[in-house]
Amino acid sequence: MYRGWICGPLGAVIAHQCPKIHVVVADLNESRIQAWENGTPSFYEPGLNEVLSIVRRRPAPERNLEFVTDVEAAIQQADLIFLCVDTPTKSFGAGQGCAADLSNIQRVARTIAQVSRGEKIIVEKSTIPCGTADMLQDLLSTCGSPDAQFEILSNPEFLAEGTAMENLMLPSRVLIGSAQTERGRRAADELASLYETWVPRDAILRMDTWSSELAKIAANAMLAQRISSINSLSAICEATGASANVDSVSAACGRDPRIGPAMLQGGIGWGGGCFQKDILDLVYIARSLHLDDVAAYWESVVTMNEAQQTRFLQRILACMYGSVTGRPIAVLGFAFKENTSDTKNSPAIAVVRGLLEEGAKVSVYDPKVPSNEIELALGAVDLTHLQICRSPYEACCLADAVVLATGWSQFRTPSIDSAQLDDGILTPPLEMSNFLDWSRILNTMQRPKYVFDGRNLLDGAFLTRLGCRYVRVGSASAWDAGRRRSVGL
Ligand code: UDX
Repeated sequence: MYRGWICGPLGAVIAHQCPKIHVVVADLNESRIQAWENGTPSFYEPGLNEVLSIVRRRPAPERNLEFVTDVEAAIQQADLIFLCVDTPTKSFGAGQGCAADLSNIQRVARTIAQVSRGEKIIVEKSTIPCGTADMLQDLLSTCGSPDAQFEILSNPEFLAEGTAMENLMLPSRVLIGSAQTERGRRAADELASLYETWVPRDAILRMDTWSSELAKIAANAMLAQRISSINSLSAICEATGASANVDSVSAACGRDPRIGPAMLQGGIGWGGGCFQKDILDLVYIARSLHLDDVAAYWESVVTMNEAQQTRFLQRILACMYGSVTGRPIAVLGFAFKENTSDTKNSPAIAVVRGLLEEGAKVSVYDPKVPSNEIELALGAVDLTHLQICRSPYEACCLADAVVLATGWSQFRTPSIDSAQLDDGILTPPLEMSNFLDWSRILNTMQRPKYVFDGRNLLDGAFLTRLGCRYVRVGSASAWDAGRRRSVGL
């Protein structure tokens, strides 16, 4: 194995499920490997530490998980090598901004070619463009020793951050793409027998490598497309100025079993390391095949996502009388979604950047993202008016507006039924200690106290009773520009 986010969790799960298999996680980065070896990976993923500690507690002869920096030795000893190498979108040259940068995968392939002897099965785990298995087969057989034989398999990973351990332990499906030859099928059998230790046989799908590679990016593109579709409808709901509500539209569409309810939650848009990269990859493939209308179709999914973030920002400005210059605004959540510390393509970045560019004083709180990562993710923007806070109460104190950017459950409002509201005074039952104390937050804010809910997570009626101006995605609000006049403001 090698670098990449998936490498550690996958290694831990294989070692946990297959006690007889010796798993070596290899990475050139010493501090990263040291952190894993100490049982303290640098990112947050629910359930990961528990699995790691079970495997690490095994007595020495039975301990089957190692973290090493000697990549070459790890390759020489392995029969099965999972490539978990980073393949970011290219920021230079041909295909810039669209194609995947394959330099890391080529570098590791050359190392494998140089040091390998005997039979090796190479498994593509990284998200890679279609045709990479063919490229690897060619590169390894051309550059490898005559004593070495390589069989390339595509085995894309479908885990989502925040539920990675669950997705690895109980995958909806495992794809194994192989060459349609006797040797290719034999290699696929070997990988399948590893997964069969814990995955039901009928969940393991076999196919050719191209279909497997395409299926991976197609699945992500379709998931992102659903969210962009519901977000396009949220824009229509808001623009009607009537009582249309994207949550109702989503609930109604999701009840159709042919559509289903997942990935239909309207909000400020999707982020993460996969959706954008995979769609752009699909766009690049389509363009390379001279299918310009196909490329334009998928590109519009990304355009819609960017437009959603811009629209949300413009709505904040419009509600706050067209200017936020010098105004204190709190942003709750910075990760691209709840239950992860990852900020890759987080919609919060566009929101915080936009507010800072408009001259607002922005206080950010996220329960899991470290301050330096927030600053790094914001990139080249003037951070003089950015404050990163250690609690939501600190972030919201004296704020004019609170923007909910990530759907962490700890930011939730209690349901109206579980609280007793009496003239704006909340008497919380005991179990409500898990929720944010919105009454305390609103008490410390400056009037007119806006709450912009970018994730449609909060109970608007509850917050309105507590005295704020509540605005959510996908329904018109009395505080939208243009409506103020019609409601006499
Ligand atoms: C995704 C795929 O789900 C996973 O199968 C694949 O292997 C990797 O890419 P991930 O990026 O971890 O996983 O997150 P996901 O849960 O899919 O959410 C992506 C983004 O969409 C997040 O920003 C999330 O907040 C947003 N989202 C999700 C919505 O806006 N609405 C929804 O209904 C669901």
